[in-house]
Amino acid sequence: MLYSEKVMDHFTNPRNVGTMEDADGIGEVGNAKCGDIMKIFLKIKNDIIIDVKFSTFGCGSAIASSSMATEMIKGKPLSQALELTNKAVVEALDGLPAHKLHCSVLAEEAVKAAVKDYYDRNGIAYDHGKFVQTHDCGHCGED
Ligand code: FES
Repeated sequence: MLYSEKVMDHFTNPRNVGTMEDADGIGEVGNAKCGDIMKIFLKIKNDIIIDVKFSTFGCGSAIASSSMATEMIKGKPLSQALELTNKAVVEALDGLPAHKLHCSVLAEEAVKAAVKDYYDRNGIAYDHGKFVQTHDCGHCGED
């Protein structure tokens, strides 16, 4: 079977789907090649992510990745959310097919973009090095 049960579960029954009117940070990222777009909304209190929502216009793997990523950062401090890697998301999903790994990168980038937005809005100083995009999906986003 191409997709794990967890991927199928998070794809057919995604957690934390939606948008947020009063988000403290919003991150939107896209994969230029496949055209998929992911948006993450964070509600933050005392440096803790007290609520998170996502809306993803994309493939099943991107939806499953965003669902899993929101579950992994909900209730966690921002510092921990910034450490979330696409690899951790893929592991939590019990794997993704190799040609779908790039879809999970969107989840990592969307979370980081939302935290950065929160920092920017509130004039909080941060280490810009943490937000450098390390992954270029151009070569792997064919489908
Ligand atoms: Fe575009 Fe999965 S994110 S194909």
